[in-house]
Amino acid sequence: MVELRKIDSDNYEEVWKLRSLDNQKGYKDTVEEDFATAYLELLEGDHPPMFLAIYNGEEIVGYTLILYYELCEDNAHCEEFEILRKDFGDKAIYEFGSFMIDAKHQGKGLGRQAMEKILEYIHSSPQGEADSIFLICKTENKTAEKLFTSYGFADVGKQVFGGEKIMRAGLGLAPTQPKDALTHNCKH
Ligand SMILES: CC(C)(COP(=O)(O)OP(=O)(O)OC[C@H]1O[C@@H](n2cnc3c(N)ncnc32)[C@H](O)[C@@H]1OP(=O)(O)O)[C@@H](O)C(=O)NCCC(=O)NCCS
Repeated sequence: MVELRKIDSDNYEEVWKLRSLDNQKGYKDTVEEDFATAYLELLEGDHPPMFLAIYNGEEIVGYTLILYYELCEDNAHCEEFEILRKDFGDKAIYEFGSFMIDAKHQGKGLGRQAMEKILEYIHSSPQGEADSIFLICKTENKTAEKLFTSYGFADVGKQVFGGEKIMRAGLGLAPTQPKDALTHNCKH
């Protein structure tokens, strides 16, 4: 059975060893970069990172990094946030920031089972209500794109970082299609 558990001093060394396939390098940040992102978010972010190991029974087979943001003009320098804020009217979002299943465990249905647990977790609003979940996917990463699409993520039609897709899934009553730009009160 697949489960999500926090990454802490008992299991971080196992997470540190997880690796994607060679031909998947570049589809996501490295494990080291994800640890650095989680550390910086903890130190400087408004909300703690949700950095979770994916267990199959007692074995760690992957991990995910989820982040929660309230969108306002203060973080408008982040192009993808500005697109979500202006085109969809999102006020708060979960970023599905990183997701991987170790090379030796791929293709056995664990990615799909993990997606279900991750979405269930996000739908429980662990850090607050949000309008959507988004992620950034390389255009050539067709396996991941197909998986995300099957869970309701749609390409928002605008690219960032020189050709990466923003994929978004609305939460609750949030729109699934872009709407005209809205003005919002900023919580900060
Ligand atoms: C995306 C990823 C998490 C999927 O994990 P997984 O455990 O292999 O996924 P599953 O076994 O549950 O398979 C999910 C789907 O992908 C397909 N798939 C898995 N590996 C595949 C491969 N090498 N080639 C083609 N399709 C593949 C499966 O057939 C399945 O499709 P279906 O459910 O429509 O039949 C994994 O490939 C991975 O870690 N990739 C590298 C990191 C990455 O790309 N992360 C996403 C960044 S945006």
